[in-house]
Amino acid sequence: MTDIRDDVAAGFEDLFGRPPTGIWSAPGRVNLIGEHTDYNEGFVLPFAINRRTVVALGLRDDATIRVASAFADQLSSIELTDLAPDRLDDWSAYPLGVAWALGQHGADLAAVPGVDIYIESTVPVGAGLSSSAAIESAVAIALDEVWQLGLDRPTLAKVGQLAENKVVGAPTGIMDQSAALLGRDDHAVFLDCRSLESQLVPLGFAEAGLELLIIDTGVSHSHATGGYAERRASCEKGAALMGVASLRELSVDDLPRARTTLDDETFRRVRHVVTENQRVLDTVAVLRSVGPLAIGDLLDASHASMRDDFEISVPELDLAVETAQGNGAIGARMTGGGFGGAAIALVPSAGVSRIQVAIDGAFAEHGFEQPTMFTVTASSGAARNR
Ligand code: GLA
Repeated sequence: MTDIRDDVAAGFEDLFGRPPTGIWSAPGRVNLIGEHTDYNEGFVLPFAINRRTVVALGLRDDATIRVASAFADQLSSIELTDLAPDRLDDWSAYPLGVAWALGQHGADLAAVPGVDIYIESTVPVGAGLSSSAAIESAVAIALDEVWQLGLDRPTLAKVGQLAENKVVGAPTGIMDQSAALLGRDDHAVFLDCRSLESQLVPLGFAEAGLELLIIDTGVSHSHATGGYAERRASCEKGAALMGVASLRELSVDDLPRARTTLDDETFRRVRHVVTENQRVLDTVAVLRSVGPLAIGDLLDASHASMRDDFEISVPELDLAVETAQGNGAIGARMTGGGFGGAAIALVPSAGVSRIQVAIDGAFAEHGFEQPTMFTVTASSGAARNR
């Protein structure tokens, strides 16, 4: 098997005519639990996966930044001082947006050297596994190093989020970049999205004889349009009507008052966020005290809440989750922003192929496109590789 780091180094050299200065990479992520809680200042529990975006970078002796990748034909080129959110619109908005966002976090774009960047990735695009945060995080650590900025990882996560929010135009939270930057082998990142404090929580899937199966439905989604922003607006409305700065400040004890204060739809949006925050705390406690075999009910309850209260699931995700649950999974839920993308199932190792066959069969029966299924392991966060 070829090493993607060799491919990316060769791709860089073919295109730019010299070897790169270095190679950096960042992983995609799976969110184990804690969905649509990040922008409500709540809790999330994602982990970095063993699918990575790899960046080769070389310094230039002028002030131009150029980016290219194996997945796009075009080379994008711009002067560093010309970077501005409204000037970036294709996929290069992700890497170039990070360079701009570093400028907003103290990098002097009139003084740092220009760079050439070449990118390859094994993170599937559009599967809800944060391929975009993987690009942002790999580029962020690479530029932080070669521009000698010395920014810490939580700040680099904010840089990626700023690029996503202002340049790409998706009003997303801090979870994906935090997972990509803070992940560790066999651990989840338990992040408090208000304080940005994080703890690593051992997952222990392998010791418990479990595998984490991804079921990518192939239903595409975009968080720059539509439902994601609407859900975020509902949460803000719910918080305002309840008289709190964010939904993080509400607990399950506040739900009876929420029911009498809010319209039915806003109440259900709020109930999802409030109960989901509690499920994250419960999952962390159960992982630490009993282990992963006991978290299945929490995963299942999270899915039901997203399906019924937050209304961000789609029929393909529901079918994947129900079929996994009915064929021996410990627990299953959709993961990520919703409206498409992937579900996860926590599955006994011996039962993985049985569940895959059952899901393939169920999708065929419903006339849905065949999903793509693969297992992932919890892996290390962004790092320099060469
Ligand atoms: C997307 C966003 C994240 C988060 C999730 C939902 O992945 O990028 O910030 O809001 O949706 O939990």
